[in-house]
Amino acid sequence: MAEENLSTGDVSEERERLLDGWDEASRGWGRQADRLQAAARPISDWMLSHANPRPGETVLELAAGPGDTGFMAASLIEPGGRLISSDATAGMLAVARDRAAEQGITNVEFKQLQLEWIDLPTASVDVVLCRWGVMLIIDPATALRECRRVLRPGGRLALAVWDRPQENPWTTLIQRALVDLGHVEPPAPGPGMFALADRARLTGLLEDAGFLDVEVEPVPILRRYASLTDWLGETRDLSRQFGMVWDSLPDPERQRLREVVAEAAGDYTDARGALALPGSSLAALASA
Ligand SMILES: C[S@@+](CC[C@H](N)C(=O)[O-])C[C@H]1O[C@@H](n2cnc3c(N)ncnc32)[C@H](O)[C@@H]1O
Repeated sequence: MAEENLSTGDVSEERERLLDGWDEASRGWGRQADRLQAAARPISDWMLSHANPRPGETVLELAAGPGDTGFMAASLIEPGGRLISSDATAGMLAVARDRAAEQGITNVEFKQLQLEWIDLPTASVDVVLCRWGVMLIIDPATALRECRRVLRPGGRLALAVWDRPQENPWTTLIQRALVDLGHVEPPAPGPGMFALADRARLTGLLEDAGFLDVEVEPVPILRRYASLTDWLGETRDLSRQFGMVWDSLPDPERQRLREVVAEAAGDYTDARGALALPGSSLAALASA
């Protein structure tokens, strides 16, 4: 039986703290959404080509953040299909609403939904999409059961979580520098980017939730940055933890952090200082 709960402390307080953090991060995610989506496009492509949303179907995107994977599905379900773009935080929903308007997407409705309590009727959607959401929550087993519940028989779930830390230097090199310099504690067990990076565990959770035909595959991405400053600037927008540390550091300590990160990323840096850092997600398809 897969582990049920990733929490280590008081569950409701921790849930609230996690969601507050995401709400606060929403503006930064909005600023970075275009470039993040450009880099993460292979993951969205994998999810959509495997879940195969068809005209007339209802697609639910969970933990949608800026909403881009769902927006890619919106044209595939026309005519007659409906996209429900959802997130637990009001801030991220506001970002997604603006992006849908910019992209001229009209067959979408927005809902504030939590992964662990999906406030939708049983067997009411054809496809569930969730990119980089399930590993961030306290109880992924319940979330996956909820995904199974809202899917119609024969419905498909496509999700992505982050692969192991060593496959993702685009983020782990900075995280390690923060730990090595004593600015943050080493990551504790519990919800977080790499909480479901074990393929067998992810497969087990999906099967335990009642899904059939589970398929899990790594999807590589490449993160390109014009400079170290560009990379750190994006990280400040996407990671609340990094942003808080960076903003609080006196100049000499910031400079030291830059040096440590630059040295760690030497192999990924060209002569002009531009960086190309690999990353990898685990993408999964499962049938209800
Ligand atoms: C790493 S971001 C991913 C955003 C988007 N799916 C993407 O791929 O760019 C995680 C998102 O999950 C949302 N989230 C966190 N906990 C959640 C929960 N319990 N239920 C629903 N959404 C949640 C956050 O607000 C945030 O928008």
